[in-house]
Amino acid sequence: MSWQRFCATTEDTITAGEAFAGVLSQGDIVLLSGTLGAGKTTFVKGVAKGLGVSERVTSPTFTMVREHLCSNTLGIETLQHCDVYRVESLDEVLDLALGELVEESAVALVEWGELAASLFGRDVMTIDFGVLDDDARILTVDGALADTRASRLDLWAS
Ligand SMILES: Nc1ncnc2c1ncn2[C@@H]1O[C@H](COP(=O)(O)OP(=O)(O)OP(=O)(O)O)[C@@H](O)[C@H]1O
Ligand SMILES: [Mg+2]
Repeated sequence: MSWQRFCATTEDTITAGEAFAGVLSQGDIVLLSGTLGAGKTTFVKGVAKGLGVSERVTSPTFTMVREHLCSNTLGIETLQHCDVYRVESLDEVLDLALGELVEESAVALVEWGELAASLFGRDVMTIDFGVLDDDARILTVDGALADTRASRLDLWAS
């Protein structure tokens, strides 16, 4: 199964991210794919808002991982925001140990994560960011983990 949501503006993508927080459960790994500037970081800003992150979310391109404390009633205490665009070898991603990084009460959102999908060792969701024009994007969610969240994703996509 896959689910789609159209985002006409940057603000729409933030709102889509905010709503996506309600799809997430503890331990989830979400891989974000799409070209440079497609809106992955923008979406994470929205998810952070939905999870009750108070600090500013910026691109983790150079740090690879940023950890944000959350305040919500979903039981998700930490948001791991990763970007593996600059990794030079899969070993570097293994060093990040993203699978283990997701403690029971955390979720991980990984920009360019499809580059390392085989390393996560568990079911993941993927969100592809399709660029339609300067402002419009089409978000497509799929993956084995998404199938287990079908009813929440039906709501998110409607
Ligand atoms: N509908 C939209 N959704 C998201 N971003 C949009 C949209 N329309 C225009 N934009 C603009 O596109 C840019 C998206 O940048 P963002 O950093 O989120 O992309 P990214 O996918 O994380 O890129 P990178 O691969 O470099 O990390 C922003 O400048 C944003 O304002
Ligand atoms: Mg980014």
